Amino acid sequence: MNVQTAIRPEQAELLQQARLEAYSTPLEDFHPGAPRLFQNDTLWPWFERLRKEAPVHYCTKAPIEPYWSVTRYHDIMHVDTNHAIFSSDVSHGGIMIRDVAPGYEWPSFIAMDEPRHGDQRKTVSPMFMPDHLDELAVLIRQRSARVLDSLPRNETFNWVERVSIELTTQMLATLFDFPFEERRKLTRWSDVSTALPKSGIVSSEEERRRELEECAAYFGRLWKERAKAEPRNDLISMMAHSEATRHMTPDNLMGNLILLIVGGNDTTRNTMTASVLALNENPGEYQKLRDNPALIETMVPEVIRWQTPLAHMRRTALVDTELGGERIKKGDRVVMWYVSGNRDEEVIENPDAYIIDRKRPRIHLSFGFGIHRCVGMRLAELQLRIVWEEILKRFERIEVVGPPKRVYSSFVRGYETLPVRIPG
Ligand code: HEM
Repeated sequence: MNVQTAIRPEQAELLQQARLEAYSTPLEDFHPGAPRLFQNDTLWPWFERLRKEAPVHYCTKAPIEPYWSVTRYHDIMHVDTNHAIFSSDVSHGGIMIRDVAPGYEWPSFIAMDEPRHGDQRKTVSPMFMPDHLDELAVLIRQRSARVLDSLPRNETFNWVERVSIELTTQMLATLFDFPFEERRKLTRWSDVSTALPKSGIVSSEEERRRELEECAAYFGRLWKERAKAEPRNDLISMMAHSEATRHMTPDNLMGNLILLIVGGNDTTRNTMTASVLALNENPGEYQKLRDNPALIETMVPEVIRWQTPLAHMRRTALVDTELGGERIKKGDRVVMWYVSGNRDEEVIENPDAYIIDRKRPRIHLSFGFGIHRCVGMRLAELQLRIVWEEILKRFERIEVVGPPKRVYSSFVRGYETLPVRIPG
Protein backbone atom coordinates (compact mmCIF):
# COMPACT_ATOMS: atom_id res chain seq x y z
CA MET A 1 0.00 0.00 0.00
CA ASN A 2 1.39 3.39 -0.94
CA VAL A 3 0.62 6.11 1.53
CA GLN A 4 1.44 9.75 0.86
CA THR A 5 3.27 11.41 3.79
CA ALA A 6 4.51 14.94 4.47
CA ILE A 7 7.16 14.53 7.16
CA ARG A 8 9.35 17.62 7.59
CA PRO A 9 12.65 17.31 5.64
CA GLU A 10 14.77 17.98 8.78
CA GLN A 11 12.99 15.14 10.57
CA ALA A 12 13.40 12.81 7.60
CA GLU A 13 17.14 13.54 7.61
CA LEU A 14 17.43 12.96 11.35
CA LEU A 15 15.71 9.61 10.91
CA GLN A 16 18.05 8.68 8.08
CA GLN A 17 21.07 9.34 10.33
CA ALA A 18 19.46 7.38 13.16
CA ARG A 19 18.99 4.45 10.79
CA LEU A 20 22.70 4.41 9.94
CA GLU A 21 23.59 4.61 13.62
CA ALA A 22 21.11 1.93 14.67
CA TYR A 23 22.32 -0.53 12.05
CA SER A 24 26.03 0.08 12.74
CA THR A 25 25.92 -0.05 16.55
CA PRO A 26 26.66 -3.49 18.06
CA LEU A 27 23.50 -4.96 19.58
CA GLU A 28 25.19 -5.33 22.96
CA ASP A 29 25.56 -1.53 23.08
CA PHE A 30 21.84 -0.87 22.51
CA HIS A 31 20.00 1.22 25.10
CA PRO A 32 16.55 1.59 23.51
CA GLY A 33 15.19 3.28 26.62
CA ALA A 34 17.41 6.35 26.16
CA PRO A 35 15.02 9.31 26.52
CA ARG A 36 16.76 11.32 23.78
CA LEU A 37 15.56 8.79 21.16
CA PHE A 38 12.03 9.68 22.18
CA GLN A 39 12.63 13.39 22.44
CA ASN A 40 13.88 13.59 18.85
CA ASP A 41 11.61 10.80 17.58
CA THR A 42 14.44 8.68 16.20
CA LEU A 43 13.56 5.52 18.12
CA TRP A 44 12.08 3.70 15.12
CA PRO A 45 15.16 2.09 13.44
CA TRP A 46 16.52 1.00 16.84
CA PHE A 47 13.34 -0.90 17.63
CA GLU A 48 13.03 -2.21 14.07
CA ARG A 49 16.49 -3.77 14.36
CA LEU A 50 15.71 -5.25 17.76
CA ARG A 51 12.49 -6.83 16.47
CA LYS A 52 14.43 -8.42 13.62
CA GLU A 53 17.66 -9.45 15.30
CA ALA A 54 17.25 -9.47 19.09
CA PRO A 55 13.54 -9.37 19.98
CA VAL A 56 14.25 -10.08 23.64
CA HIS A 57 17.33 -8.00 24.37
CA TYR A 58 19.31 -7.44 27.55
CA CYS A 59 20.80 -3.99 28.05
CA THR A 60 23.67 -3.78 30.49
CA LYS A 61 25.45 -0.68 29.21
CA ALA A 62 23.06 2.10 30.13
CA PRO A 63 23.31 4.69 32.89
CA ILE A 64 20.36 2.87 34.47
CA GLU A 65 20.09 -0.65 35.91
CA PRO A 66 20.14 -3.56 33.40
CA TYR A 67 16.82 -4.35 31.73
CA TRP A 68 15.30 -6.69 29.16
CA SER A 69 13.54 -5.15 26.16
CA VAL A 70 10.61 -7.09 24.72
CA THR A 71 9.87 -5.66 21.30
CA ARG A 72 7.61 -8.07 19.37
CA TYR A 73 3.83 -7.99 19.62
CA HIS A 74 3.27 -11.61 20.71
CA ASP A 75 6.08 -11.61 23.28
CA ILE A 76 4.64 -8.42 24.80
CA MET A 77 1.23 -10.11 25.01
CA HIS A 78 2.86 -13.07 26.73
CA VAL A 79 4.39 -10.87 29.43
CA ASP A 80 1.32 -8.68 29.89
CA THR A 81 -1.04 -11.63 30.30
CA ASN A 82 1.14 -13.66 32.70
CA HIS A 83 0.93 -11.63 35.85
CA ALA A 84 1.83 -14.60 38.07
CA ILE A 85 5.28 -14.62 36.46
CA PHE A 86 5.75 -10.93 35.71
CA SER A 87 4.96 -8.62 38.61
CA SER A 88 3.94 -4.97 38.54
CA ASP A 89 4.41 -4.50 42.26
CA VAL A 90 6.14 -1.36 43.47
CA SER A 91 8.08 -3.41 46.01
CA HIS A 92 10.03 -4.87 43.06
CA GLY A 93 10.56 -1.48 41.40
CA GLY A 94 7.20 -0.81 39.74
CA ILE A 95 6.09 -0.27 36.17
CA MET A 96 8.69 2.05 34.69
CA ILE A 97 12.07 1.15 33.28
CA ARG A 98 13.81 2.81 36.23
CA ASP A 99 13.00 1.50 39.68
CA VAL A 100 10.83 3.83 41.69
CA ALA A 101 13.17 6.19 43.53
CA PRO A 102 13.46 5.60 47.27
CA GLY A 103 10.92 7.76 49.06
CA TYR A 104 8.46 7.66 46.12
CA GLU A 105 7.07 4.19 46.67
CA TRP A 106 3.46 5.34 46.80
CA PRO A 107 1.53 2.19 46.15
CA SER A 108 -1.10 2.60 43.43
CA PHE A 109 -3.13 -0.21 41.99
CA ILE A 110 -1.33 -0.14 38.63
CA ALA A 111 1.79 -1.05 40.61
CA MET A 112 0.21 -3.83 42.70
CA ASP A 113 -0.32 -7.52 42.17
CA GLU A 114 -3.40 -9.58 43.00
CA PRO A 115 -5.52 -9.62 45.06
CA ARG A 116 -5.02 -6.00 46.17
CA HIS A 117 -4.90 -4.69 42.61
CA GLY A 118 -8.27 -6.20 41.66
CA ASP A 119 -10.04 -4.93 44.80
CA GLN A 120 -8.88 -1.35 44.34
CA ARG A 121 -9.49 -1.32 40.57
CA LYS A 122 -13.10 -2.45 41.14
CA THR A 123 -13.68 0.62 43.30
CA VAL A 124 -13.09 3.11 40.51
CA SER A 125 -14.14 1.13 37.45
CA PRO A 126 -17.87 2.14 37.60
CA MET A 127 -16.71 5.63 36.64
CA PHE A 128 -15.73 4.27 33.22
CA MET A 129 -18.76 2.05 32.52
CA PRO A 130 -20.89 2.73 29.42
CA ASP A 131 -23.88 4.19 31.34
CA HIS A 132 -21.76 6.77 33.07
CA LEU A 133 -19.84 7.55 29.90
CA ASP A 134 -23.14 8.35 28.16
CA GLU A 135 -23.72 11.01 30.81
CA LEU A 136 -20.20 12.37 30.48
CA ALA A 137 -20.51 12.54 26.69
CA VAL A 138 -22.91 15.49 26.93
CA LEU A 139 -20.48 17.46 29.06
CA ILE A 140 -17.50 16.54 26.89
CA ARG A 141 -19.32 17.80 23.80
CA GLN A 142 -20.25 21.12 25.40
CA ARG A 143 -16.73 21.69 26.61
CA SER A 144 -15.10 20.69 23.34
CA ALA A 145 -17.38 23.10 21.49
CA ARG A 146 -16.55 25.93 23.90
CA VAL A 147 -12.79 25.42 23.70
CA LEU A 148 -12.82 25.10 19.89
CA ASP A 149 -14.98 28.20 19.49
CA SER A 150 -12.49 30.21 21.52
CA LEU A 151 -9.56 29.48 19.18
CA PRO A 152 -8.04 32.28 17.11
CA ARG A 153 -8.11 32.29 13.29
CA ASN A 154 -5.14 33.05 11.05
CA GLU A 155 -2.83 33.15 14.03
CA THR A 156 -0.23 30.66 15.27
CA PHE A 157 -0.97 29.12 18.66
CA ASN A 158 0.11 26.10 20.71
CA TRP A 159 -2.43 23.30 20.25
CA VAL A 160 -1.10 21.45 23.30
CA GLU A 161 -1.82 24.32 25.63
CA ARG A 162 -5.04 25.68 24.17
CA VAL A 163 -6.80 22.41 23.36
CA SER A 164 -5.20 19.16 24.51
CA ILE A 165 -4.28 20.25 28.03
CA GLU A 166 -7.37 22.34 28.51
CA LEU A 167 -9.83 19.61 27.55
CA THR A 168 -8.17 16.76 29.38
CA THR A 169 -7.70 18.86 32.51
CA GLN A 170 -11.35 19.88 32.50
CA MET A 171 -12.24 16.20 32.30
CA LEU A 172 -9.99 15.32 35.20
CA ALA A 173 -11.48 18.07 37.34
CA THR A 174 -14.90 16.51 36.67
CA LEU A 175 -13.77 12.98 37.48
CA PHE A 176 -12.41 14.12 40.85
CA ASP A 177 -15.01 16.86 41.35
CA PHE A 178 -11.95 19.05 41.87
CA PRO A 179 -12.41 22.84 42.25
CA PHE A 180 -12.75 23.80 38.59
CA GLU A 181 -10.91 27.13 38.70
CA GLU A 182 -7.86 25.41 40.23
CA ARG A 183 -7.79 22.62 37.67
CA ARG A 184 -4.34 23.52 36.24
CA LYS A 185 -2.86 22.29 39.50
CA LEU A 186 -3.78 18.81 38.27
CA THR A 187 -1.81 19.32 35.06
CA ARG A 188 1.19 20.52 37.02
CA TRP A 189 1.08 17.61 39.47
CA SER A 190 0.84 15.17 36.60
CA ASP A 191 3.89 16.70 34.88
CA VAL A 192 5.88 16.88 38.10
CA SER A 193 5.19 13.29 39.10
CA THR A 194 6.51 11.78 35.83
CA ALA A 195 9.32 14.29 35.10
CA LEU A 196 12.86 12.98 34.73
CA PRO A 197 15.68 14.93 36.45
CA LYS A 198 16.90 16.39 33.12
CA SER A 199 13.47 17.25 31.73
CA GLY A 200 13.47 20.85 32.96
CA ILE A 201 10.00 20.49 34.52
CA VAL A 202 11.37 20.72 38.06
CA SER A 203 14.71 22.24 38.90
CA SER A 204 15.49 20.00 41.87
CA GLU A 205 14.30 16.97 43.78
CA GLU A 206 13.33 19.29 46.68
CA GLU A 207 11.09 21.26 44.37
CA ARG A 208 9.44 18.07 43.16
CA ARG A 209 8.94 16.83 46.70
CA ARG A 210 7.51 20.15 47.83
CA GLU A 211 4.98 20.26 44.98
CA LEU A 212 3.87 16.68 45.49
CA GLU A 213 3.47 17.28 49.20
CA GLU A 214 1.21 20.18 48.31
CA CYS A 215 -0.75 17.78 46.09
CA ALA A 216 -1.04 15.26 48.94
CA ALA A 217 -2.22 17.93 51.37
CA TYR A 218 -4.79 19.31 48.91
CA PHE A 219 -6.29 15.89 48.18
CA GLY A 220 -6.09 14.97 51.86
CA ARG A 221 -8.49 17.83 52.55
CA LEU A 222 -10.86 16.82 49.76
CA TRP A 223 -10.75 13.21 51.01
CA LYS A 224 -11.76 14.19 54.53
CA GLU A 225 -14.68 16.27 53.25
CA ARG A 226 -15.94 13.51 50.95
CA ALA A 227 -15.52 10.78 53.56
CA LYS A 228 -17.81 12.72 55.92
CA ALA A 229 -20.41 13.48 53.21
CA GLU A 230 -22.85 11.09 51.50
CA PRO A 231 -21.29 8.91 48.71
CA ARG A 232 -21.13 10.74 45.37
CA ASN A 233 -20.17 9.96 41.85
CA ASP A 234 -16.58 11.18 41.81
CA LEU A 235 -13.35 9.23 42.13
CA ILE A 236 -12.42 10.61 45.55
CA SER A 237 -15.82 9.91 47.03
CA MET A 238 -15.85 6.43 45.45
CA MET A 239 -12.53 5.58 47.10
CA ALA A 240 -13.46 7.22 50.40
CA HIS A 241 -16.60 5.05 50.69
CA SER A 242 -15.45 1.69 49.32
CA GLU A 243 -14.44 -1.12 51.68
CA ALA A 244 -11.32 -1.87 49.57
CA THR A 245 -9.98 1.66 49.68
CA ARG A 246 -11.49 3.59 52.60
CA HIS A 247 -8.73 2.45 54.96
CA MET A 248 -5.90 3.11 52.52
CA THR A 249 -2.74 4.57 53.98
CA PRO A 250 -2.05 8.19 52.97
CA ASP A 251 0.71 6.85 50.70
CA ASN A 252 -1.66 4.48 48.94
CA LEU A 253 -4.17 7.31 48.46
CA MET A 254 -1.46 9.51 47.00
CA GLY A 255 -0.33 6.68 44.71
CA ASN A 256 -3.84 6.12 43.37
CA LEU A 257 -4.44 9.83 42.88
CA ILE A 258 -1.23 10.27 40.92
CA LEU A 259 -2.13 7.19 38.88
CA LEU A 260 -5.54 8.59 37.98
CA ILE A 261 -4.16 12.07 37.28
CA VAL A 262 -1.37 10.81 35.03
CA GLY A 263 -3.58 8.12 33.49
CA GLY A 264 -6.30 10.57 32.60
CA ASN A 265 -4.08 13.45 31.64
CA ASP A 266 -0.85 12.77 29.77
CA THR A 267 -2.16 9.94 27.66
CA THR A 268 -5.32 11.46 26.22
CA ARG A 269 -3.66 14.87 25.99
CA ASN A 270 -0.80 13.54 23.88
CA THR A 271 -3.11 11.54 21.65
CA MET A 272 -5.20 14.64 21.02
CA THR A 273 -2.08 16.46 19.89
CA ALA A 274 -0.92 13.48 17.85
CA SER A 275 -4.24 13.38 16.03
CA VAL A 276 -3.56 16.82 14.51
CA LEU A 277 0.07 16.02 13.72
CA ALA A 278 -0.70 12.66 12.10
CA LEU A 279 -3.29 14.14 9.75
CA ASN A 280 -0.91 16.90 8.72
CA GLU A 281 1.86 14.41 8.03
CA ASN A 282 -0.61 12.35 6.03
CA PRO A 283 -2.63 14.79 3.95
CA GLY A 284 -4.31 12.02 1.97
CA GLU A 285 -5.78 10.67 5.21
CA TYR A 286 -6.94 14.16 6.21
CA GLN A 287 -8.78 14.41 2.92
CA LYS A 288 -10.39 10.98 3.48
CA LEU A 289 -11.60 12.15 6.87
CA ARG A 290 -13.08 15.39 5.56
CA ASP A 291 -14.81 13.45 2.81
CA ASN A 292 -16.19 10.93 5.26
CA PRO A 293 -16.39 12.04 8.92
CA ALA A 294 -17.72 8.59 9.87
CA LEU A 295 -14.09 7.47 9.66
CA ILE A 296 -13.51 9.09 13.08
CA GLU A 297 -14.61 5.72 14.46
CA THR A 298 -11.54 3.92 13.08
CA MET A 299 -9.25 6.95 13.17
CA VAL A 300 -9.39 7.10 16.97
CA PRO A 301 -7.88 3.64 17.62
CA GLU A 302 -5.43 4.22 14.75
CA VAL A 303 -4.05 7.39 16.29
CA ILE A 304 -3.83 5.71 19.69
CA ARG A 305 -1.69 3.03 18.02
CA TRP A 306 0.34 5.53 15.98
CA GLN A 307 1.13 7.65 19.02
CA THR A 308 1.39 4.96 21.70
CA PRO A 309 1.27 7.61 24.45
CA LEU A 310 2.77 5.27 27.03
CA ALA A 311 5.79 3.83 25.27
CA HIS A 312 6.40 1.06 27.77
CA MET A 313 5.31 -0.73 30.91
CA ARG A 314 7.80 -2.67 32.95
CA ARG A 315 7.45 -5.88 34.95
CA THR A 316 9.79 -7.80 37.26
CA ALA A 317 10.24 -11.57 36.87
CA LEU A 318 9.06 -13.43 39.98
CA VAL A 319 10.69 -16.70 38.90
CA ASP A 320 13.28 -17.88 36.38
CA THR A 321 11.54 -18.15 33.02
CA GLU A 322 12.09 -18.22 29.27
CA LEU A 323 11.00 -15.70 26.71
CA GLY A 324 11.78 -15.67 23.00
CA GLY A 325 14.59 -18.17 23.57
CA GLU A 326 16.24 -16.05 26.29
CA ARG A 327 16.58 -17.04 29.93
CA ILE A 328 15.12 -14.42 32.21
CA LYS A 329 16.15 -14.67 35.86
CA LYS A 330 14.04 -14.06 38.92
CA GLY A 331 14.31 -10.36 39.79
CA ASP A 332 15.14 -9.18 36.24
CA ARG A 333 13.48 -6.04 34.88
CA VAL A 334 11.39 -6.80 31.80
CA VAL A 335 10.28 -3.84 29.70
CA MET A 336 7.36 -4.30 27.29
CA TRP A 337 7.82 -1.79 24.50
CA TYR A 338 4.25 -1.18 23.35
CA VAL A 339 5.62 1.44 20.98
CA SER A 340 7.52 -1.32 19.20
CA GLY A 341 4.82 -4.01 19.36
CA ASN A 342 2.51 -1.52 17.67
CA ARG A 343 4.93 -1.41 14.72
CA ASP A 344 5.45 -5.18 14.48
CA GLU A 345 5.13 -5.96 10.79
CA GLU A 346 4.26 -9.60 11.51
CA VAL A 347 0.96 -8.58 13.10
CA ILE A 348 0.13 -5.15 11.72
CA GLU A 349 0.18 -4.59 7.99
CA ASN A 350 2.22 -1.58 6.87
CA PRO A 351 2.69 -0.61 10.52
CA ASP A 352 4.62 2.63 10.04
CA ALA A 353 1.83 4.10 7.96
CA TYR A 354 -1.04 6.08 9.42
CA ILE A 355 -4.20 4.67 7.84
CA ILE A 356 -7.46 5.92 9.28
CA ASP A 357 -9.62 3.20 7.76
CA ARG A 358 -7.66 0.14 8.79
CA LYS A 359 -9.62 -3.10 8.86
CA ARG A 360 -8.71 -4.07 12.45
CA PRO A 361 -7.56 -0.87 14.14
CA ARG A 362 -8.24 -2.09 17.67
CA ILE A 363 -5.61 -4.79 17.89
CA HIS A 364 -2.98 -2.28 19.06
CA LEU A 365 -1.17 -2.63 22.40
CA SER A 366 -1.41 0.99 23.57
CA PHE A 367 -3.83 0.17 26.40
CA GLY A 368 -1.88 -2.91 27.48
CA PHE A 369 -3.49 -6.34 27.94
CA GLY A 370 -4.29 -8.56 30.88
CA ILE A 371 -5.42 -7.56 34.34
CA HIS A 372 -3.97 -4.04 34.20
CA ARG A 373 -5.47 -3.16 30.81
CA CYS A 374 -6.35 0.51 30.88
CA VAL A 375 -9.46 1.13 32.95
CA GLY A 376 -10.04 4.54 31.29
CA MET A 377 -9.76 3.43 27.67
CA ARG A 378 -13.40 3.97 26.75
CA LEU A 379 -13.34 7.45 28.21
CA ALA A 380 -10.17 8.30 26.27
CA GLU A 381 -11.74 7.09 23.02
CA LEU A 382 -14.90 9.03 23.74
CA GLN A 383 -13.03 12.29 24.32
CA LEU A 384 -11.07 11.87 21.10
CA ARG A 385 -14.13 10.95 19.07
CA ILE A 386 -16.15 13.92 20.28
CA VAL A 387 -13.39 16.49 19.85
CA TRP A 388 -12.95 15.39 16.24
CA GLU A 389 -16.69 15.43 15.55
CA GLU A 390 -16.73 19.01 16.77
CA ILE A 391 -13.54 19.97 14.88
CA LEU A 392 -14.93 18.72 11.57
CA LYS A 393 -18.14 20.71 12.09
CA ARG A 394 -16.09 23.91 12.43
CA PHE A 395 -12.77 23.89 10.64
CA GLU A 396 -11.77 22.94 7.12
CA ARG A 397 -8.16 22.46 8.28
CA ILE A 398 -5.90 22.77 11.28
CA GLU A 399 -2.44 23.42 9.87
CA VAL A 400 0.72 22.41 11.70
CA VAL A 401 3.09 25.32 11.03
CA GLY A 402 6.27 24.24 12.83
CA PRO A 403 7.95 21.21 14.38
CA PRO A 404 6.49 19.73 17.56
CA LYS A 405 8.57 19.84 20.73
CA ARG A 406 8.56 16.39 22.27
CA VAL A 407 8.85 15.30 25.86
CA TYR A 408 12.19 14.00 27.22
CA SER A 409 10.98 10.60 28.40
CA SER A 410 10.89 7.00 27.25
CA PHE A 411 7.73 6.40 29.28
CA VAL A 412 5.34 9.20 28.34
CA ARG A 413 5.53 9.70 24.57
CA GLY A 414 4.25 13.19 24.25
CA TYR A 415 4.47 16.78 23.19
CA GLU A 416 5.24 20.02 24.95
CA THR A 417 4.21 22.19 22.02
CA LEU A 418 2.65 21.91 18.58
CA PRO A 419 2.34 25.20 16.69
CA VAL A 420 -0.79 25.31 14.55
CA ARG A 421 -2.88 27.81 12.62
CA ILE A 422 -6.51 27.67 11.63
CA PRO A 423 -7.15 29.45 8.37
CA GLY A 424 -10.33 31.44 8.53
C1 HEM B 1 -5.17 7.22 25.00
C2 HEM B 1 -5.31 7.23 26.30
C3 HEM B 1 -4.75 6.21 27.24
C4 HEM B 1 -3.75 5.28 27.06
C5 HEM B 1 -2.93 5.01 25.82
C6 HEM B 1 -3.61 4.55 28.30
C7 HEM B 1 -2.70 3.52 28.51
C8 HEM B 1 -2.66 2.71 29.62
C9 HEM B 1 -1.76 1.59 29.81
C10 HEM B 1 -0.72 1.13 28.81
C11 HEM B 1 -2.03 1.03 31.01
C12 HEM B 1 -1.31 -0.15 31.67
C13 HEM B 1 -1.67 -1.45 31.08
C14 HEM B 1 -0.84 -2.60 31.59
O1 HEM B 1 -0.01 -2.47 32.50
O2 HEM B 1 -1.06 -3.69 31.05
C15 HEM B 1 -3.07 1.82 31.61
C16 HEM B 1 -3.61 1.58 32.84
C17 HEM B 1 -4.44 2.48 33.47
N1 HEM B 1 -5.03 3.60 32.91
FE1 HEM B 1 -4.85 4.26 31.04
N2 HEM B 1 -4.50 5.05 29.21
C18 HEM B 1 -5.23 6.06 28.61
C19 HEM B 1 -6.23 6.79 29.18
C20 HEM B 1 -6.64 6.70 30.49
C21 HEM B 1 -7.66 7.50 31.12
C22 HEM B 1 -8.50 8.58 30.42
C23 HEM B 1 -7.70 7.11 32.42
C24 HEM B 1 -8.55 7.61 33.56
C25 HEM B 1 -9.08 8.74 33.71
C26 HEM B 1 -6.75 6.04 32.61
C27 HEM B 1 -6.52 5.37 33.79
C28 HEM B 1 -5.76 4.22 33.91
C29 HEM B 1 -5.65 3.46 35.14
C30 HEM B 1 -6.30 3.80 36.47
C31 HEM B 1 -4.82 2.36 34.86
C32 HEM B 1 -4.42 1.23 35.82
C33 HEM B 1 -5.25 0.01 35.55
C34 HEM B 1 -4.87 -1.20 36.38
O3 HEM B 1 -3.77 -1.29 36.89
O4 HEM B 1 -5.72 -2.08 36.53
N3 HEM B 1 -6.13 5.82 31.40
N4 HEM B 1 -3.44 2.83 30.74
